[in-house]
Amino acid sequence: MILFHNIPQLITFASGSQRGLRLGELGMVENGAIVCEGEIILAVGETDALLNQFPQADRIDLAGRAVVPGFVDPHTHLIWAGNRANEFEMRLQGKTYMEIMAAGGGILATLTATRKASLDQLVEEARRRADAAFSFGTTTMEAKTGYGLDIETELRQLEAILELDRDALIDLVPTYMGAHAIPPEFKGDSAGYTRFLCEEALPATKIWWQQHAGERQLPFVDVFCEAGVFEIEETREILTAAKALGFPLKLHADEFENLGGASLAAELGAVSADHLVKTSAEDIQRLAASETVAVSLPGTPFGLAQSEYTPARQILAADGYLALATDLNPGTTWNESMQFIQALACRYLKLTPAQALAASTINSAKAILLDHKVGSIEAGKQADFLALNTPDYRNLSYRYGGNQVDLVVKKGEIYPFAF
Ligand code: NIG
Ligand code: FE
Repeated sequence: MILFHNIPQLITFASGSQRGLRLGELGMVENGAIVCEGEIILAVGETDALLNQFPQADRIDLAGRAVVPGFVDPHTHLIWAGNRANEFEMRLQGKTYMEIMAAGGGILATLTATRKASLDQLVEEARRRADAAFSFGTTTMEAKTGYGLDIETELRQLEAILELDRDALIDLVPTYMGAHAIPPEFKGDSAGYTRFLCEEALPATKIWWQQHAGERQLPFVDVFCEAGVFEIEETREILTAAKALGFPLKLHADEFENLGGASLAAELGAVSADHLVKTSAEDIQRLAASETVAVSLPGTPFGLAQSEYTPARQILAADGYLALATDLNPGTTWNESMQFIQALACRYLKLTPAQALAASTINSAKAILLDHKVGSIEAGKQADFLALNTPDYRNLSYRYGGNQVDLVVKKGEIYPFAF
């Protein structure tokens, strides 16, 4: 049993996921303490009370360090091979992301590299990113496939996620994203590829999953709903087929154009709708009236040097659930740090540091159906939390570009990252 004590600001987010303007209720304990037993939090309270109650526990003094829940990153494309620095330079010279994609680059460039990569190579390239994210305080991360787009490579990506989840420190939550782009075999035939996904790829993925992951919950299914990729009716077909097979749903909606994806996500009961840059006032109302979490990815417009961001304050005013994620991927935003995402969210989404932190922990846990287990510091939850190198949690958003995490506690084990 370990007792962490003398915590100047212990941010618990103890009252569950936070809807609308409730976002940012810190549940702060001053001079706080946490008792862990194995992987689980046993008690949370004030230092004096817990020192009296648990005199037999090993003690760790966290004086001068604010403590917050481990970050949950609910949207990444973690598994890929290769590098697209050349496209970054092309964009700086004036080409747009969608122009590069239409010319066979973009996701398709990564597809070529990923199809060639062995399972070991995929795992090793992704491990470096997963380890970097962990050192920046992400203790749970969603990870998508979507760079294979044939059954064999997509399943190899899923296998890489399962393997990394088993042996990296971070916990991974899988998403199948065969609907990330139209692969070369179906060029110009999005209807044909949609049919292939619904009739062959999704059923095959479900069978594979049951053979390889046993009782574990089926992966999420996600679709890139965008003009020139999957139109709204194709998106509806794919998500409806996935839902009928029992997959929980996610959606890339309104990244570059508004096709009505956010409303579709709400209508189909998707767990989250992500990106939401071009979302209309009407879509915001529908989304906010549902249980679907709005996931904003401010690293993406930043990475693309665009000036438009998610209308986050409107989502909150409409009483929606808001979460943040990195979108870590080789095309639009290669960034592993949820600290940087919080810094961006305060500046461009106009969130307070407390709101950005809640959207990176308890609400992002809801965006991957894990808010019963992680995302807050409460008795009974997994012992995943961070000790910062500062007594004031607001430094997390105020400062940026470095690492303010001193210690990561993951399932009750302590990993120091002293800088
Ligand atoms: O979320 N928009 C689609 N997918 C990614 C980009 C993937 C890539 O360019 O490799 C995104 O931004
Ligand atoms: Fe994405």
